[in-house]
Amino acid sequence: MRHLRLAAALLLVVLLPLAVSAADGKAAAAPAKAKAPAAPPPAPPNITASMAKGGCKAFAALVAASPDALSTFQSAADGGMTAFCPTDDAMRAFVPTYKNLTADGKASLLLFHAVPVYYSLRSLKSNNGVMNTLATDGSAKNFNFTVQNEGDKVTIKTDASDGVARIKDTVYDKDPIAIYAVDTVLEPVELFEPAESPAPAPAPVADAPKASKSKKASHRHVADAPGPAGDDAPPADQRKSSKKNDAAAGASCLRWLAALPVAVAVAAALA
Ligand SMILES: *[C@@H]1O[C@H](CO)[C@@H](O)[C@H](O)[C@H]1NC(C)=O
Ligand SMILES: *[C@@H]1O[C@H](CO)[C@@H](O)[C@H](O)[C@H]1NC(C)=O
Ligand SMILES: *[C@@H]1O[C@H](CO)[C@@H](O)[C@H](O)[C@H]1NC(C)=O
Repeated sequence: MRHLRLAAALLLVVLLPLAVSAADGKAAAAPAKAKAPAAPPPAPPNITASMAKGGCKAFAALVAASPDALSTFQSAADGGMTAFCPTDDAMRAFVPTYKNLTADGKASLLLFHAVPVYYSLRSLKSNNGVMNTLATDGSAKNFNFTVQNEGDKVTIKTDASDGVARIKDTVYDKDPIAIYAVDTVLEPVELFEPAESPAPAPAPVADAPKASKSKKASHRHVADAPGPAGDDAPPADQRKSSKKNDAAAGASCLRWLAALPVAVAVAAALA
């Protein structure tokens, strides 16, 4: 009898630390698991809500209603963007024309109102020249416009229009996003006939360096887009294996704990 009791006691001595260490393992694994999801980046501004608040309700509604345009605006905003939203007054006369465009044309027109670079008003004034827009897609779809100063105002000109659009207000300006209200809808020459019969010899040479710079910026942005998300997320197999370890620790802990009462019962019966 005595040696049996001794054996049971020994069994307990062996089992207890194992059960405790299994439980410890589980507890230690828990904080690592809680740390896994990365802290969310600060929320970017709601672009359509900012536009609407800044007097561009109609334009904001069109962007919100175009999934293509909306998602491009939003992903461009991450890397830096300057948007020019036509005021509601400017949009009123343009709506019938807009409705006449194809779905592609509509999305291009909306995307034509933003460039993939952040410009404060001051830097816009010192960066006159041809700029590519979010609608630009290689050299087949130029969709560019020309920024020029007019006195202390910044204006935007396209070849489809005699007049210029003037920046009226700063709607939002916090690096990396700026939104300015403009008094005229910007009409890309890709969608609308050139306003005047072509002038004798357009001279794009002077603008070339600037244009190639902004083109590069646009390409860089596109190339960068999938990067950050991929870098921040822990590799899937790593996460999976850590989860598996947790489960294994938990299971072995349970097994030991289940064995404990049996050992106690055996010891008691033998006593
Ligand atoms: C932005 O604001 C608009 C209108 O206020 C709302 O409908 C939309 O859901 C908002 N979008 C996001 C991403 O919060
Ligand atoms: C819409 O398109 C039709 C056919 O191309 C044209 O006759 C009409 O003038 C257009 N309307 C507007 C508002 O542009
Ligand atoms: C801007 O677009 C026009 C018309 O699509 C094109 O002829 C011109 O080469 C473009 N300019 C630059 C600098 O990309």
